[in-house]
Amino acid sequence: MITPRILYFGTPVVLLSTENSDGSANLAPISSAWALGWTLVLGLGEDGHTARNLAERPDLVVNLPGAGQWAAVERLAPLTGADPVPAGKQSSHRHVRDKFGAAGLAPIASVSVRPPRVAECPLQLEARTERIDRAAADGFFIVQARVLTVHADPSLVIPGTQHVDPARWHPLIYNFRHYFGLGRELGHSYRSETPRSRLDQGNHPNLGPRLRANP
Ligand SMILES: Cc1cc2nc3c(=O)[nH]c(=O)nc-3n(C[C@H](O)[C@H](O)[C@H](O)COP(=O)(O)O)c2cc1C
Repeated sequence: MITPRILYFGTPVVLLSTENSDGSANLAPISSAWALGWTLVLGLGEDGHTARNLAERPDLVVNLPGAGQWAAVERLAPLTGADPVPAGKQSSHRHVRDKFGAAGLAPIASVSVRPPRVAECPLQLEARTERIDRAAADGFFIVQARVLTVHADPSLVIPGTQHVDPARWHPLIYNFRHYFGLGRELGHSYRSETPRSRLDQGNHPNLGPRLRANP
């Protein structure tokens, strides 16, 4: 048995845009984020500025950086939008108001919500908070947000479809506080709507060599 301090076993990193009380934008790296249908579930520390923003202004954008953007994410890691910096974060974080500028990322207006998207992120999910619950332990809020609008870089979309091409999307994975990309494809779920065999029928131009399911 082991007793690790953290259990970050490898989930995608998102950059969460929220709106500050003065109408400016906050941007925070989060790895506790996943989707249930079009509902996003986010785990946010109670002392984070992002959680405070969402309790007062429900709009948000989940921006998904690609694996190559880890350095910009790490530039945001020691920053908080909270001023003053909460007591528990004073040794690890400093306050910065312009997190986009600090990360070297550009804001771009959203379509359905007030906070801006991150222009450099290939996938952007505009969403609105529907409920915030307190986690049973450890000082977190569990946020549920409904996705309103999905933006995808055209180079990731299989032409003529609503599908993101999994062979072209390379999420950034947070693996026990280290950043990783994905390895090569091993196979696909029986429910995949984008297996190579089906796409080949239309001579799909976007696809390079892809492996079939392992025996
Ligand atoms: C890669 C990465 C993943 C993180 N994941 C989370 C997370 O899932 N939930 C969370 O509350 N904080 C997470 N953090 C820490 C927040 O980014 C940090 O608390 C930050 O100060 C929040 O900014 P804010 O106070 O402006 O909201 C993560 C940090 C990094 C670098």
